[in-house]
Formats: sequence, C-alpha cells, structure tokens
Amino acid sequence: MSTPILKAHQISKRFSAPSPVVVLKEIDFEISRGESIAIVGKSGEGKSTLLHILGTLEKPCSGTLEICGQDIRTASLPQLRNRHIGFIFQSYNLLEDYTVLDNVLMPAKIARAEIRPGSPVHQRALLLLETVGLKERTLFPAKLLSGGEKQRAAIARALCNDPDLILADEPSGNLDNSHSQEVHALLLRLAKDFNKALIVVTHDKELSSLCDKTLLLKDGNLSA
Ligand SMILES: Nc1ncnc2c1ncn2[C@@H]1O[C@H](COP(=O)(O)OP(=O)(O)OP(=O)(O)O)[C@@H](O)[C@H]1O
Ligand SMILES: [Mg+2]
Repeated sequence: MSTPILKAHQISKRFSAPSPVVVLKEIDFEISRGESIAIVGKSGEGKSTLLHILGTLEKPCSGTLEICGQDIRTASLPQLRNRHIGFIFQSYNLLEDYTVLDNVLMPAKIARAEIRPGSPVHQRALLLLETVGLKERTLFPAKLLSGGEKQRAAIARALCNDPDLILADEPSGNLDNSHSQEVHALLLRLAKDFNKALIVVTHDKELSSLCDKTLLLKDGNLSA
C-alpha cells in the first residue's frame, strides 16, 4: 500500500461573517499516487471550500493537513503549492492576452524555473500541449481559444510543474456535453499516465463514475 500524497485529519471550516455558517465538520480524507477521487454534493455544501483547503488556498479552522509528508502548519505554502499541486478551475483562469505556451509555462515561471526555449521545462510544456491536442495553438493568445481548448490549456498548465496532486473544481462546468467528455477523458488519462493523485469536484455523473472512488459531501460530512 503506497503512502498517501495528501492526508487530512479532522478538518473543519466555519465562516463567521456575514452570518455564521458551518461548512465542514471534522473531515478525514486521504489520497495516494495514481488514485482518482470525485467529490460530489449539492450546490453550497462546501465542495469548493474543501478543495481550497486541500490545496492550501484556504486555512481550516481546525484539523491537520499533510501534503507530500509536509505539515501545512510549518511548510512554506507557496513552495508546497508550486512544487506539488496543480489547480484546474471551472473558469480556466488563463491570462487572456498571453500565448497558450506562456500560460502553460506560468507555474514554472512563478517557481523561478528556467523556461527558455530548449530548457527541460519548455520542452515539457510543448509536449503537454501536444498531449492535450493544442500543438497548433501554442502561440495563439489564450483569448482566441474555444472553451474546450481553454480548459485543455488549463490542464496542461496544471501539469507543467509535474505536481504530485491535481485539484480540479468543476473542470467541465462551462463546456457542452461533447467537450465535457473530451476534457474528462483527457484529465483521467493524464492522471493515470503520469501517475498523479487527482481530486475532482464535479456534478457530472459520467466523470465521477470514471474515478476510482466517489465521496459525497453533505451536511459538512464526507462519506462514501
Ligand atoms: N468567504 C466566505 N464567507 C462566508 N461564507 C462563505 C464564504 N465562502 C463560502 N461561503 C459559504 O459556504 C458554503 C459553501 O460554499 P462552497 O463554494 O464551498 O460550495 P460548493 O459546494 O462549492 O457549491 P457549488 O456547487 O455551487 O460550487 C456556501 O453556503 C457559501 O455561501
Ligand atoms: Mg463550488
């Protein structure tokens, strides 16, 4: 049995303003390399909040979180995120005026890696763009891409730093059915091929059925 990439113990989250809301109650969760887990639940149940906490973008009110053996209370979070986590958001969050390649290279640039043409990271970015079917769009500004192409670029970007963990929040929320299926298949294939741990929040039954495990978030609790 492999050691978990991410281990959350008794995570809770409440917001106090504008009025008190208990969103997560003592959640235990773990995921290992090569594993894919879908998190489902009704709107407002706290799926995005949980994903943000697991990705260290938000702090839990209590509980512990370890990512790649590092306790988030003592780790350098920007470094942890850059090295180990790739994010895919519902709204893509691409820099619209930058080229597709520059967008894919952005996490490496933030991590201050060498990104000049010919560097290993640059070659990796080109390979990822080829893998997601965007080789011909490499030098297009992101704003000229279709919705499905933007999401595929965002998937390539999430993999640029070779993270151990991929977090995706409704990755096909803005796409029509055929493009959703394409993005789902690609995401699952890349996670398996590159041996990543994948946590995906989704309303989509087809996507959750493709994952190894589906967990339901309801009334602040996560259950199988
Ligand atoms: N910063 C905040 N301050 C106060 N309440 C918040 C804050 N962020 C989220 N909430 C509340 O927490 C609850 C969970 O929100 P969250 O965005 O995690 O839900 P979700 O399950 O992702 O919903 P959806 O499926 O619609 O995206 C909501 O009721 C929301 O209003
Ligand atoms: Mg959400």
